Amino acid sequence: MCGIVGYIGTQPATDILMAGLERLEYRGYDSAGIATVWEGEIQCVRAKGKLYNLREKLERTDNQARLGIGHTRWATHGKPEEYNAHPHTDTHQRVAVVQNGIVENYRELREDLKKRGHEFRSDTDTEVIPHLIAECLPEPSTPDFQHPNAFLDAVRQAVNQLHGAFAIAIICADYPDELIVARQQAPLILGFGQGEFFCASDTPALVPHTHAVLNLENGELARLTPLGAEVYNFNGERLRKFPRTLNWNPVQVEKQGFRHFMLKEIFEQPGVVRTCLEAYISSDWSAGENDSSSAIPDQNPVAGDTPSITTPIQLGLPESLYENLEHVQILACGTSWHASLVGKYLIEQLAGIPTMVQYASEFRYAPSPLTRNTLTIGVTQSGETADTLAALEMEKRRRIGLGQEYQPRLVGITNRSESSLAHLVPHIIETFAGMEIGVAATKTFVTQLVVFYCLALDLAYQRQTLPPSRIAEIIAGLRQLPSQIELVLSRQEHYLEELAHEFDETQDFIFLGRGINFPIALEGALKLKEVSYIHAEGYPAGEMKHGPIALLDSKVPVVAIAMPGTVYEKVLSNAQEAKARDARLIGVTPMHDPEAAQTFDILLSVPVVEELLSPILAVMPLQLLAYHIAARRGLDVDQPRNLAKSVTVE
Ligand code: F6R
Repeated sequence: MCGIVGYIGTQPATDILMAGLERLEYRGYDSAGIATVWEGEIQCVRAKGKLYNLREKLERTDNQARLGIGHTRWATHGKPEEYNAHPHTDTHQRVAVVQNGIVENYRELREDLKKRGHEFRSDTDTEVIPHLIAECLPEPSTPDFQHPNAFLDAVRQAVNQLHGAFAIAIICADYPDELIVARQQAPLILGFGQGEFFCASDTPALVPHTHAVLNLENGELARLTPLGAEVYNFNGERLRKFPRTLNWNPVQVEKQGFRHFMLKEIFEQPGVVRTCLEAYISSDWSAGENDSSSAIPDQNPVAGDTPSITTPIQLGLPESLYENLEHVQILACGTSWHASLVGKYLIEQLAGIPTMVQYASEFRYAPSPLTRNTLTIGVTQSGETADTLAALEMEKRRRIGLGQEYQPRLVGITNRSESSLAHLVPHIIETFAGMEIGVAATKTFVTQLVVFYCLALDLAYQRQTLPPSRIAEIIAGLRQLPSQIELVLSRQEHYLEELAHEFDETQDFIFLGRGINFPIALEGALKLKEVSYIHAEGYPAGEMKHGPIALLDSKVPVVAIAMPGTVYEKVLSNAQEAKARDARLIGVTPMHDPEAAQTFDILLSVPVVEELLSPILAVMPLQLLAYHIAARRGLDVDQPRNLAKSVTVE
């Protein structure tokens, strides 16, 4: 949420900053701006709306600066107008700042600064930062002004007055060879080049220039100069830090011939599901060899936490996490919350462990009572969602110091193993979806589901709630999924593109599902509203008659997920109830099913799989439906209005 970039080196900064912002635009696109130090002055160019507006303005300037900062904004405080766009400057325009985050105590700071004569030009929380820094800078006439740490110390004094979660980058016209950055609970990564240094909110902005990166930690500042990068803590103590190497391919962040990233990412799903399954399912385990009780691993191994024999699933988690486990609680937001609902179903049905799924944003302020021997799982594709991180942090804090059975057992499921989540929880299960640029989550959702299958199977194996033969059967079914996804995508892509025309005038959609596919109905509805701006609601099919049925008429299409299994007939009956109210019925159904063909007006068929495995196939046509309706309406599918890829504010 908001992207920041910074550059110091030998090349024209503006080009590098603009290219970086393009790669971060998924983080916010309400306005954008760039500030450089050029000819002894801060040059600031800002524009409302998307980056091309800023690009147009920059074309009219001639600026060869080698130092600058840039920002793409997702508005929190203040409307998305140019005067609220970053960078923000102090009264005399000597200091410029970009921020990702929120300064919570900005009102008090602003009032105090105003009393001391500072002039404010925006409604943002960020604007207090350049004013505070300017106040802490030594007067040019004093010897302190020449002190090598003058600028760094001024920033340090200012950030020590800020409350909240923020990542900032700062330049000052008086110190043209320094770029200072600071991080407090919002992501910030440094990039190391040859005689040039970069900073950015996320790695895609850095990969074209360097693969040597360093994630700044909370409470750290860095000074970047053409000669090097130095890291300090907020007390001013120098820290020894070493960059790591990114194994990243810049091609991952190109569209590769697809019209939108979202479509490309939908079509990447067979591959990423395969990668994720290969990462966690043992290739050398077979139920036959392990079907005797002697093959069940020792629940209390004597030496260390590493299992001594091959297990079907290898998540790399210590066995101590599973010991005497009584509860699982999952914290997440949005699409990750939907994946977690499927996870709950799997963990309860396969491993028999009571599982709660909570919206992280609700849990923060009304946590459920503490339960004993509880595994807490944070699910966030970005690893940066502020609510999820704060909920996990709170859960960790409230358990510390209590008895052994209340000790925190935290695991994160994320697509970004280097994210803030990884700093907060000791164990990460990576989803291996590769970079997802489209703001609407698709492949990251599906790989979260794969991880939940693996986790539930691992728990079931360790707790012996399923016989190895059943585990082997489910694994065999999972291994079929990549080719089945390919089949669904290839069969339905053009069909759904055509079908999208029929919904030009549609204003409301209802999605129905039951059991393990209820969360898929929620996800189908969320995808549609996010990218097409059509109002859509997901309901458990059996709940229709308790209220939502009042909405139905011939103008409201109903999408029902009807996959063979325990609730198949029930969903068909619920669909019939909708049909009786003239609703147009779209069914996500098994292929070649005569009953489904009779019930539904439109069939989105998927291969027949057991109910337990059906969510991953059922969500495919729903993603394509949302995509094609939005694309047909000419909307900005990859960057829907008001949304951002990682929601780093509360
Ligand atoms: C949906 C979507 C959002 C995110 C939510 C949580 O397409 O992208 O609903 O799922 O903001 O994001 P993460 O998973 O990064 O915590």
